[in-house]
Amino acid sequence: MRVLRSGQYILGAEVQGFEASVARMIGVRHAIGVSSGTDAILLALMTLGIGAGDEVICPSFTFFATAGCVARVGAKPVFVDSCPVCFNLDIVDVARKVTTKTKAIIPVHLFGQAAEMDGLMRLAAEHKLAVIEDAAQSLGARYKERFVGGIGTFGTFSFFPSKNLGGFGDSGMLVTNDDALADKARIFRTHGSQPKYYHKYVGGNFRIDPLQAALLSVKLPHCQSYSLRRSANAGYYTEQLRGIPGVAIGGDSECCCQVQAARINARASKIDAGLILPSALQHNEHIWNQYTLRVIGQGRREKLRAFLTAKEIGTEIYYPVPMHAQECFAHLGVASSSLPWATRLAQEVLSIPVYPELANEQKEYVCASIREFFQA
Ligand SMILES: Cc1ncc(COP(=O)(O)O)c(C=O)c1O
Repeated sequence: MRVLRSGQYILGAEVQGFEASVARMIGVRHAIGVSSGTDAILLALMTLGIGAGDEVICPSFTFFATAGCVARVGAKPVFVDSCPVCFNLDIVDVARKVTTKTKAIIPVHLFGQAAEMDGLMRLAAEHKLAVIEDAAQSLGARYKERFVGGIGTFGTFSFFPSKNLGGFGDSGMLVTNDDALADKARIFRTHGSQPKYYHKYVGGNFRIDPLQAALLSVKLPHCQSYSLRRSANAGYYTEQLRGIPGVAIGGDSECCCQVQAARINARASKIDAGLILPSALQHNEHIWNQYTLRVIGQGRREKLRAFLTAKEIGTEIYYPVPMHAQECFAHLGVASSSLPWATRLAQEVLSIPVYPELANEQKEYVCASIREFFQA
């Protein structure tokens, strides 16, 4: 009602207040409220002047927006493989794919857990590349004590309703510690104009609504408690499901990617695992936007999903088709054999309900149903 009565429906104090709260929460100098998590990525790329002839490295196993924005500015998305333990981009593959045309890397902190940022930032510094952290699913997640989004050149967040801080419609946030980039991004957010009607750049309308900012400001102080409840739900699932014969758990030690993945897959194949549970790496504070299982075996994921659907348990496949295999990127000619984990994960993943309001009986029911499926 305060917003409705104010008569200020574009930017203004509500937006500035929300931006300041987000900046304080994750410890960055600038937070710029935008229309969606997608537009946050687009705005970052436009502000960095990335376009035709440039390459941007990003994971193939991600939501479309990550790669879509790269293509929309006219640059080429260069896809890298993912780690089957933490589901994030494989930095060994990133190093392999840097060329003289590479301008930026977009690590995605998928499902609420940080990507391997130390190695990535070192690589970016070595090649003078920008890093845009796609933290759409990870507001409040930490990597070695640091909040994600504030580590790279830019960080992007989404307040899509299913996110840990879910809005009442679409909106997002772009963050940075760079004063000049922040100023430029604010100009791009309003058609590239400064002052009004004088256009230095070709920008767009990427503004967050004050109504959305005001609603999100009410929820923001509860964001940590939402994530802690998700984390408790994830912990419950892991405890309950790990004892089922044929269930393995992902690793949690310092290193992810190659070494860890090989170890886990060897362990999983030794017990002929049908299911691999997700895990939080020790140095990460995971916010569990999703609790994502890997269901092993041809057709088994679909069978488990149908079984749970019949029991009225909602599941989702994030994501069934990796980016390199999307029709709109077919012209890039990337073979699935060159991205084996992205390809395989798309066939194995299944996310089960982990939202904060989940009741104990519901969690018990989910676990009992999965147990029934694997013991049948
Ligand atoms: C990894 C990732 N990137 C980008 C986005 C785009 O965010 P939005 O839906 O707010 O545009 C999402 C949201 O679904 C996402 O999960």
